[in-house]
Amino acid sequence: MTVHFIGAGPGAADLITVRGRDLLASSPVCLYAGSLVPTELLAHCPQGVRLVNTAPMSLEDIVAEMRQAHAQGLDVARLHSGDLSIWSAMGEQLRSLREHDVPYTVTPGVPSFSAAAAALGVELTLPGSCQSVVLTRTSGRASGMPSGETLAAFAATGAVLAIHLSVHAAEQVQAELLAYYGADCPAAIVWRASWPDELLVRTCVGEIAAAAQANALQRSALILVGPTLSQQDFGLSRLYANDYDRRYRPRGDEPRFPTGSEGA
Ligand SMILES: C[S@@+](CC[C@H](N)C(=O)[O-])C[C@H]1O[C@@H](n2cnc3c(N)ncnc32)[C@H](O)[C@@H]1O
Repeated sequence: MTVHFIGAGPGAADLITVRGRDLLASSPVCLYAGSLVPTELLAHCPQGVRLVNTAPMSLEDIVAEMRQAHAQGLDVARLHSGDLSIWSAMGEQLRSLREHDVPYTVTPGVPSFSAAAAALGVELTLPGSCQSVVLTRTSGRASGMPSGETLAAFAATGAVLAIHLSVHAAEQVQAELLAYYGADCPAAIVWRASWPDELLVRTCVGEIAAAAQANALQRSALILVGPTLSQQDFGLSRLYANDYDRRYRPRGDEPRFPTGSEGA
């Protein structure tokens, strides 16, 4: 018996991985984070599945459900929104399962920042512009921020910021970023990326708060900030340049990676 943690993806029911779908289909117990996971996904569960919405439950109750399934020899599918590596509360569940010797697996999911970038039709990292993306948030009721992880500290690097769990603090986000990116720097707020009612608000740093307010955006929204959100004057990637010598397309009289070579 195993507890399978599965990233459900950002919202669209067909953005779960094939592995995640198959684990859902083979697990007789399914625990899902009801407030964020699309209910269409539950259609993949087998007939007679025990479905548990964990939204109103405590950690102890959730782990008790898993341990009960373990005692009965039943696999559990544990669905969380997006990917499990960020803000999923998986860490505390895994720790508890380890303490109780309950085996588990982790299947990644499409994170919301990827879905938001896809909806905007942008590559967040562009040659000669931004080469880093910071996934961050502002402090909330459930979790404070470590002292070094301020928006200002990340903004000072000039990286693209994908700011989660913060649309309610849009004014603060705007105020903290203005000095670093400038009012005209492109920004976007993506609400419910990949859901049928997805909303894209393209704006700029100086208008983030007004844009959030004008569209009454709350929860399930991501604020993205950085020049690559609307940049057209970026360089070409060397990867596809005609004269770029690489393993799968050797170039020149003395290619660095001659055909058939196992060289580094
Ligand atoms: C508890 S975190 C979960 C993050 C999730 N594990 C992920 O991989 O994206 C919830 C926050 O993620 C962002 N989020 C989740 N789903 C989203 C979506 N479909 N569209 C936009 N933002 C989303 C919002 O910032 C929301 O406040």
